[in-house]
Amino acid sequence: MTRIVYINGDLVPEHEAKVSIFDRGFLFADAVYEVSAVLNGKLLENAGHIARLVRSCRELKLTLPVTPAQLEAIQQELIAVNQLKEGAVYLQLSRGNTGDREFEFPAAGVTPTLVLFTQARPVIDHPKALTGIKVVTLEDIRWRRRDIKVVGLLAPCLAKEYAHAQGADDAFLVEHGLITEGSACNAWIVTAQGTLVTRPLSNDILHGITRQSLLELAKRHDIPFEERAFSVEEAYDAREAFISSATTFIWPVVQIDGRAVGDGTPGPITRALRGIYVQMALRATA
Ligand code: PDD
Repeated sequence: MTRIVYINGDLVPEHEAKVSIFDRGFLFADAVYEVSAVLNGKLLENAGHIARLVRSCRELKLTLPVTPAQLEAIQQELIAVNQLKEGAVYLQLSRGNTGDREFEFPAAGVTPTLVLFTQARPVIDHPKALTGIKVVTLEDIRWRRRDIKVVGLLAPCLAKEYAHAQGADDAFLVEHGLITEGSACNAWIVTAQGTLVTRPLSNDILHGITRQSLLELAKRHDIPFEERAFSVEEAYDAREAFISSATTFIWPVVQIDGRAVGDGTPGPITRALRGIYVQMALRATA
């Protein structure tokens, strides 16, 4: 079945969707994006993703050409026409095609480019959720506004490449000895006392929608947590570690820089929290 994608008001087969070489998303990475998980053919935590998109647009003076309600209707239509049961919907908004390469923002009247597509993949029964992943640490060379979800993702691509070359799955990015986040996920540890630790919100990290939900679920289930920066050494010594994102929910981290985390298998608090999140997600999409 040919995938149907959305481009600027039209639903078309993927090979028919074309964007200009002068599009500012292509020339300058002048574009923002969001990824919402799909379970049981329904969007998960989408209000949070759309709210973050609206914020990203505001920070960059980008105009969303549709209302949040219209955007969600497009996402749902794509899920329906592609018969997507489990996976994700990707959406990207660029500042559009100005017909040439000029750094400054175009005067009013240039239409932004809005594209969306679906991706079918396992979320609940992903093998990494059971086995956990290996990560390596790496200097965080990204720009200073990581709170805005921009498509300029070369640094995370380099981080993933580096991790794969080391036989690992992902990288924990490090600044001044402290872990910021993963290449495309938030980073967490569990201390010897059983406290969840994740970095507080600032311009240093993406304000993960899954991260926020996990903090709320932890509170509801009396799991202690702290929002504070943690060092690479603290991560080495942690009892457990894990990552969170829309597409992984929670994946345990069982090795950091070749050292086993805890006993080298997914930890009990990590597994319990994933279970709590999965229950919430299944209920929300039933
Ligand atoms: N990435 N940090 C970074 C740098 C991310 O790119 C992501 C998400 C997250 C987690 O945010 P959320 O819980 O809202 O998905 C944290 C998406 C999944 C991606 O780029 O594919």
